[in-house]
Amino acid sequence: MANSKYEYVKSFEVEDEVMPPNLIIVRIEAFNFDGFSDIHDFEKPNDEKALALMSSCAAAVLEEYPDIVFSYGFNDEYSFVFKRKTKFYQRRASKIMSLIVSFVSSVYATKWKEFFPHKEMKCPLSFLARVLCCASLEVLQAYLAWRQNECHIRNLHNTCLWMLIKSGKSAKEAVEVLQGTQKQEKNELLFQQFGINYRMLPEMFRQGSCIFMTQAEDVVKYNEHGVPVKRMRRKPMMIHDEHIAGRNFWNGQQYLLMELGAFENDIKKIKAEYVRSFLFENKLMPSTWIVIRIDGCHFHRFSEVHEFEKPNDQQALNLMNSCAVAVLEEFKDIVFSFGVSDEYSFVLNKDSKFYQRQASQIVSVIVSFFSSAYVMKWKDFFPFKELKYSPSFDGRAVCYPSTEILRDYLAWRQVDCHINNQYNTCFWMLVKSGKSKSEAQSYLKGTQAREKNELLIRQFNINYDTLPEMFRRGSSVFRMKGEDSMMPENGRLEEVKQKVIIDHSNIIEDSFWKEHPSILS
Ligand code: GTP
Ligand code: MG
Repeated sequence: MANSKYEYVKSFEVEDEVMPPNLIIVRIEAFNFDGFSDIHDFEKPNDEKALALMSSCAAAVLEEYPDIVFSYGFNDEYSFVFKRKTKFYQRRASKIMSLIVSFVSSVYATKWKEFFPHKEMKCPLSFLARVLCCASLEVLQAYLAWRQNECHIRNLHNTCLWMLIKSGKSAKEAVEVLQGTQKQEKNELLFQQFGINYRMLPEMFRQGSCIFMTQAEDVVKYNEHGVPVKRMRRKPMMIHDEHIAGRNFWNGQQYLLMELGAFENDIKKIKAEYVRSFLFENKLMPSTWIVIRIDGCHFHRFSEVHEFEKPNDQQALNLMNSCAVAVLEEFKDIVFSFGVSDEYSFVLNKDSKFYQRQASQIVSVIVSFFSSAYVMKWKDFFPFKELKYSPSFDGRAVCYPSTEILRDYLAWRQVDCHINNQYNTCFWMLVKSGKSKSEAQSYLKGTQAREKNELLIRQFNINYDTLPEMFRRGSSVFRMKGEDSMMPENGRLEEVKQKVIIDHSNIIEDSFWKEHPSILS
């Protein structure tokens, strides 16, 4: 398809391949899980159903992405370890991380009713994620030891905290009681005050959960004599162990030995420099416009399975727009967004300090919020269509150093929308009129915009310019700021200031930006 003069903006995208022999870990943790668990009345300190839902999402990740061979998690966090030789999406960090975090959010929203049939999911749950590179197996071992130690420390603390609160102390008093206490003292407090032997609490709470794939025999069907036909199938298995980073546990798992290798020694002390490297995070350049672009993963298939209208499904696009509105309402640093087909670009303010400009945090929280919202809102837009599987989106962050280049970026996306839509409109009209797909393709090969418009008029009596603006120009979603809004009768300007609107204007021309000077100011 034709290129536009704006294509040069692609050169601002950066490569982020994790080079071998580094091992790849993706760690996710829920964003504002305390707030989410309060809203949904989760049991404290551990809600078994919420934990089971998280584990079920993690197991779904392992089933979906065969290159992930091991995962470990507790509470609202999970770490996924890829096999040593993975070539998954050319080992591109942002792509891998965003797909996983999006998939988890989408599965979480999909499976919610299975685990909480009598509770409504009231708001989207998003996740923060990061990619960690382990230069050797020893580093991976240290990582796992670190996370399991963290699980233990946090669970012991939370168990004490909630027992104190349940016994009548205020949260502040309970925190004061625990201040500066060591593990031993906490164990004693639990035993003496509450008769709880910490070691007798469920393993899942104290040790976290490991999930990895195993080969298991499964009955796939019965033959004509009623004899079961069995096949070996990959199945996720969850186990609990006190020392997941110990040689005993690790080297006893054939699958892990094969895909990652053996642990040579047991860890005596976790090296501080390793922990520092696990906490390190790249920051995006200051004073540049940050664009987070998300894109539906395999939406060609998704739209076939869900029988979207071709070439444009009004409701599918309305759903995308509604999710973008939710994203802008949630994240105040986003000043503008533009969507077409299965993609959306979110522009963060040039001076935004959101997550200290850490790329993976920003990408993950936006892409996963969007994915969760997509699943939750599905039934509002498709009340008579079942969501057949959980969709996922990938995401990336790109910095643009000037407003002019940012506007060229947005123009690039709108021109792309126009080029694709014009082509697709002609293509599907030709197919609907009886041509095969390959005939339609060769018919359109090399045609210019004007010829396509003529074809539509001549053969199908369609004036391209009268087709819905949303199809031709995509959708812009932004906040109406003060000067664009009218003072309402009740005088509550604040509410109006925050109003997020959907618009289908031409954003290439200056007039749009002159009309809304506050957006990129
Ligand atoms: P990846 O993004 O590389 O994973 O592949 P993809 O299949 O998602 O393709 P891409 O993002 O390049 O393009 C989006 C695809 O989604 C289009 O090619 C269409 O097949 C489909 N799609 C998006 N919006 C609509 C719609 O409104 N109607 C229909 N029928 N299909 C749509
Ligand atoms: Mg796509």
